[in-house]
Amino acid sequence: MEFIKKEIKDGIGILTISRPQALNALNRQLLEEIGMAVKELEKESNLKVFILTGEGKAFVAGADIAAMSKYSQKEALEFSALGQDVFSSFENSRLVSIALINGFALGGGLELALGCDIRYASNKAKLGLPEVSLGLIPGFGGTQRLARMCGTGVASEWIFSGEMFSADQALQVGVVTKVSEPEDLLLEGMKLAMSIQSRGKEALASAKATIRGSLDITLDSGMEKERKAFSSLFETQESNEGMGAFLEKRKPNF
Ligand code: HXC
Repeated sequence: MEFIKKEIKDGIGILTISRPQALNALNRQLLEEIGMAVKELEKESNLKVFILTGEGKAFVAGADIAAMSKYSQKEALEFSALGQDVFSSFENSRLVSIALINGFALGGGLELALGCDIRYASNKAKLGLPEVSLGLIPGFGGTQRLARMCGTGVASEWIFSGEMFSADQALQVGVVTKVSEPEDLLLEGMKLAMSIQSRGKEALASAKATIRGSLDITLDSGMEKERKAFSSLFETQESNEGMGAFLEKRKPNF
């Protein structure tokens, strides 16, 4: 794997995303590697929990805009489906997942964290769903998961404004459940992971499936709607302008 560092430390799985030249932005290869790394961890029969974090100043700064800017509508649909499937595989896994948000968690990066069971953040982290500023919408589950997690009011504020929010703001609305100093983030994550690792494996898997099952039975249909809405924006002038402006390092002219 090129972009994922996988280790087992003190009995806890740790996946670190490392694509620093693009602030860990998610391209197809990286999404596939995340999916593969989780499958490999699932084979560790004693493992019950893993941590997912990013290297450098970002957790993940979103989907790779340079790659996306060249996508046709069909490719956008496939890309959205790939990310949705990988993040949904976290939910369907018996393993508990903890996202440690060390820095920027934007767009697809926040959607990745929302696919995890629990999120802790560094007080330096910035979180948000800025897709509308690119002429797009979240396409890896964000419209569905943020609304289910925090209500449609919070989801609407975050998604419509496209703003970045601080870790404390994320704590207030329940996107994250703990904020720590950057140097304590891994320690706090490990403390939680060790506590989970000390519990019953079957009970954890059952509790997880039951919590997930209670949320909504129509997530898949929401995902389908999201995929279609996301990919149809690839036929708009707005998304050309939005992504083009980012790549040309200028403000979009909407
Ligand atoms: C591709 C990215 C990137 C991204 C950063 N980079 N984010 N490349 N895709 N999402 C690249 C930059 O182009 C730059 O490359 C390098 O990483 C460092 O980034 P800078 O912008 O120079 O860093 P900084 O000034 O610190 O600003 C950090 C930032 C900014 C605020 C996070 O990079 C930013 O706004 N990034 C885009 C965030 C975003 O819009 N995310 C949502 C994407 S859409 P060079 O080569 O110039 O050094 C999305 C859709 C998900 O996620 C759904 C899909 C289905």
